[in-house]
Amino acid sequence: MKILIVGSGGREHALVWKLAQSPQVENILVAPGNAGTQWTAGEGRAASRNVAIKADDLDALVKFAQEQAIELTVVGPEVPLADGIVDLFTEVGLHAFGPTQTAAQLESSKAFSKAFMQRHHIPTAAYGAFTDYDSASQFVCDFGKPVVVKADGLAAGKGVVVCDTVDEALEALKRILVESEFGAAGAQVVIEERLTGTEASLLAFCDGYDVLMMPPARDHKRVFDNDEGPNTGGMGAYCTGDMSHALLSPELLNEVRDTVLLPTVRGMAAEGIPYKGILYAGLMLTPDGVRVLEFNARFGDPETQVILPLLRADLLKILLACINGNLSNIDSQTLWQKESCAGVVMASGGYPNDYPKGLPISGLDAVSDAVIFHAGTSSNAEGETVTAGGRVLVAVARGSNLENALDSAYKAVEQIHFDGAHYRRDIGRTAMAEASS
Ligand code: AMP
Ligand code: GLY
Repeated sequence: MKILIVGSGGREHALVWKLAQSPQVENILVAPGNAGTQWTAGEGRAASRNVAIKADDLDALVKFAQEQAIELTVVGPEVPLADGIVDLFTEVGLHAFGPTQTAAQLESSKAFSKAFMQRHHIPTAAYGAFTDYDSASQFVCDFGKPVVVKADGLAAGKGVVVCDTVDEALEALKRILVESEFGAAGAQVVIEERLTGTEASLLAFCDGYDVLMMPPARDHKRVFDNDEGPNTGGMGAYCTGDMSHALLSPELLNEVRDTVLLPTVRGMAAEGIPYKGILYAGLMLTPDGVRVLEFNARFGDPETQVILPLLRADLLKILLACINGNLSNIDSQTLWQKESCAGVVMASGGYPNDYPKGLPISGLDAVSDAVIFHAGTSSNAEGETVTAGGRVLVAVARGSNLENALDSAYKAVEQIHFDGAHYRRDIGRTAMAEASS
């Protein structure tokens, strides 16, 4: 089978890495990919090659997929999904994995997502949605509790302001609604109750009716240790398939499946918007129970990089089962390795602010007990692998428990060098501390 992966980050490298192991996959094309997503066939994996088409150039992607007779396209990022890539491919008779444009509103419109959750009694923070500053500010003043202000549309992870005071909330409303900091994505805001607790990402495969949960993972969004500094795209993650530092107990997982994931997929079907693809629930485990912070309509980044190495089964079969609506045929009992997996992101100096590009990366070949998923990398004219983005790569390792996985991931990080590289030294540390307390 000939497959196209859309995107260029660590998530997409992990998807290519896993799908290349599928016996049915002969050839993978990645648009646009990175320096890590190209190789020749051999050692039990299919060949992979980059093509210079941007992930949001939908017309070029559909034309390419038609010309190349691509049999399955897997979409990584949210923007092409929100722009309707799956609808476009389906219209011309091509298979694309992911939700339609209307279904992707669970991520692309926070107002849609909150109203949907309210209609279907899915546990989430109390909220209001507004398009004008006066009503929004009145709501904040009347609310009487700390709030979070969110731009309705996609804002590359920057559209959420967690506020300590009323003044901060009013300032955020002004920036989004009056000064249009996020353009059309901020034409509406969602204001919701600020919750406290620990966060977990729970991703599930969906076929329009059924769901198949992946083991829960945790992202580390702040740039510095101890969750200090500004937010990033994610500085590391871990996933515990061995349950030694389980983010959610088996009982809680079942509860989330029954109160969040299934009602969402069944509710979407009942509203005539069948949801196929990945449903990613960003959860807050509050003292009052689990609450949904947000839905994403795609694989998480960097969660995917630490989840897929624990998948024993053929990913292709699961993706096809989602498209064909027969996910219930997949045996969920033996799908996941009972181990942990950890990933540490190495970022460019200065990230998440300005950073240099084109710096040579050394030591990649020295790594043995870890997989290096590339994110912001490219090959220069001399064929060297150089930095090309803020998050450059993620070192991912498995272990019989979280501690072993983290040890191997950090050993790999220490072998890799580029000028100005920085990474967090406390990935997974909270989980280890929670387990020993
Ligand atoms: P979102 O993109 O909606 O997941 O928000 C990004 C981050 O903002 C989340 O990962 C949380 O850390 C924080 N956040 C979002 N909603 C809330 C909330 N209601 N209460 C507290 N923190 C929140
Ligand atoms: N890890 C956060 C995201 O993928 O949105």
